[in-house]
Amino acid sequence: MAGPGVGWVRVCGSDLQPGEITGVSVEGDDLVAWRSLGGVPHVMEARCPHQWSHLAGEGAVDGEELVCLTHFWRFTGDGDGWKENVSGRRDRKGDIGVRACRELEGGIWIRSPDDCSEQETEV
Ligand code: FES
Repeated sequence: MAGPGVGWVRVCGSDLQPGEITGVSVEGDDLVAWRSLGGVPHVMEARCPHQWSHLAGEGAVDGEELVCLTHFWRFTGDGDGWKENVSGRRDRKGDIGVRACRELEGGIWIRSPDDCSEQETEV
């Protein structure tokens, strides 16, 4: 079987470039896949938890974080929400849901939302 195994869904190709964001729908869930400037792929909810801007259109990658350009909340790859002012002070904001992902065989994969198995497939 291609990819990590049973219960995993391919979100997008590994040709997702550093700094690139793409909107994806996986089994009815609205998500974005993005790659940090350091090359790490991430998959998270598409809607900003502040006022629901869609991060595929209103997002930008800044280093290792995804920034919502509507009001400049920013999210780490773990989903922690922050706002950073011009002097660099960071204040906690709402977090965003993330999906653990793996990059394998030319694609970025997440667990299917319908997969209830606890069994991990080693890659
Ligand atoms: S809608 Fe994203 S920061 Fe306000």
